[in-house]
Amino acid sequence: MTIEAAARPPLAPTSARGPIIHPRWLRVTHWINALATLIMIGSGWQIYDASPLFGFTFPPRIALGNWLAGALLWHFAAMWLLLINGAVYLTLGVVTGRFRRKLFPIHPSEVLHDLLAALRGRLSHEDLASYNAVQKLLYLGVLSAGVVIVLSGLSIWKPVQFQALTAFFGGYNTARYVHFAAMTAIVAFLTVHVVLAVIVPKSLRAMIFGR
Ligand code: HEM
Repeated sequence: MTIEAAARPPLAPTSARGPIIHPRWLRVTHWINALATLIMIGSGWQIYDASPLFGFTFPPRIALGNWLAGALLWHFAAMWLLLINGAVYLTLGVVTGRFRRKLFPIHPSEVLHDLLAALRGRLSHEDLASYNAVQKLLYLGVLSAGVVIVLSGLSIWKPVQFQALTAFFGGYNTARYVHFAAMTAIVAFLTVHVVLAVIVPKSLRAMIFGR
């Protein structure tokens, strides 16, 4: 080997396979969050069925836990996963500056423009490193729904200990409706989110492998 060849640094694998789009902490917290959310939704539907707020129940085969007590065990177990993992994700999102860089600024005119482009099938998916305005709005929306669902859940779970929180939501019964509305928003987000991930498989690959 020549002296120059020996002195040359080995080719970084990153340069050969493209830059990292999603750092590891984001991918790990994202998938833990996805698992926790699915468990929370499935068990939440079973809990709802024991005392429905509206004139319908969820079919048992898409609910988790078999009966009320089983569903409560799933719900409270996944709750800690969602709470702790969500706190890690939000903290790192703020501290690393990712939220500022990726989710802001967001202008209504850009949202409208990108929404119309998406509906016409003309939205570019070339640059996975930056989100379009509709994505930004959806991600900010689901993050807000996540905060609301956790806080309203706490106020239903411990209405005596978290009296002020329960009162903030308008009382125990209203907090149940708020909790249900946040679940509906998250399920609506997930439906669009998963369809888009399937339509643009390279975005799914990036969320798994980072690039
Ligand atoms: C279970 C199936 C899920 C799949 C297949 C999925 C897929 C993906 C993919 C591919 C991306 C990257 C999008 C891009 O780069 O264009 C992403 C980002 C994101 N997903 Fe999901 N996701 C799932 C569940 C969830 C859930 C349950 C939530 C929240 C409740 C969520 C919230 C987010 C957020 C906030 C981002 C942006 C992350 C950031 O850049 O900070 N996802 N997801």
